Amino acid sequence: MSRIGLSWWLVMAGFGVSAAFAGAPDDGLAAARGAVDRFGAALQATLGAALATGDPVAAIGVCNEQAPGIAAQSGAAAGLQLGRVSRRPRNPANAPTHWQRGVLEQWATELAAGADLAGREEFVPTPDGGFRYLRPIIIRPPCLVCHGTAVAPAVAAELRKKYPDDRATGYRLGELRGAFTAAR
Ligand code: HEC
Repeated sequence: MSRIGLSWWLVMAGFGVSAAFAGAPDDGLAAARGAVDRFGAALQATLGAALATGDPVAAIGVCNEQAPGIAAQSGAAAGLQLGRVSRRPRNPANAPTHWQRGVLEQWATELAAGADLAGREEFVPTPDGGFRYLRPIIIRPPCLVCHGTAVAPAVAAELRKKYPDDRATGYRLGELRGAFTAAR
């Protein structure tokens, strides 16, 4: 992707960004980055199209039904499991592991202290030859429709119906929403 193309994508996407990793890239890291890029772009396109219809309640259904399929599809070619996690999940299935929670806490602390998380990622090889990977997801304007402090009553009602244990509202612009995950 060209530099201009990438900046455009970052502005439009509202999802996490990829950037330079300090160490020497290996196959796992490149695969994780590529798969998470695809996952983020596909989610963005699906969500954007759903929101563009002007019916955020219907968009909830689209995200809810399509996100797992998009994750599976984006990771399949590289043999990766992809997902999203949050310390305040909407879907309880998206609760973080112990390791993921630790990284999210560290990132939230840095963000609160004024750090810019753009380009942050965490890549840890595992003893079995696999790895785990995390990339932060920051709250952007379109996210506030369903994760913000002033969710419209119809949207809130639908969320309550589908997610009785929803903890994923009350976010403000720029806050850490969670992370993309990749593992092999
Ligand atoms: C139309 C409503 C809607 C909008 C807009 C929306 N989301 Fe969500 N979000 C959801 C729903 C519904 C889920 C639960 C999906 C599931 O069941 O796996 C979710 C789940 C998530 C998760 C997974 C963790 C969890 O809480 O279960 C993350 C991370 C997330 N959203 C980030 C974002 C970001 C970042 C944006 C803005 C770019 C955004 N969302 C915009 C409805 C929305």
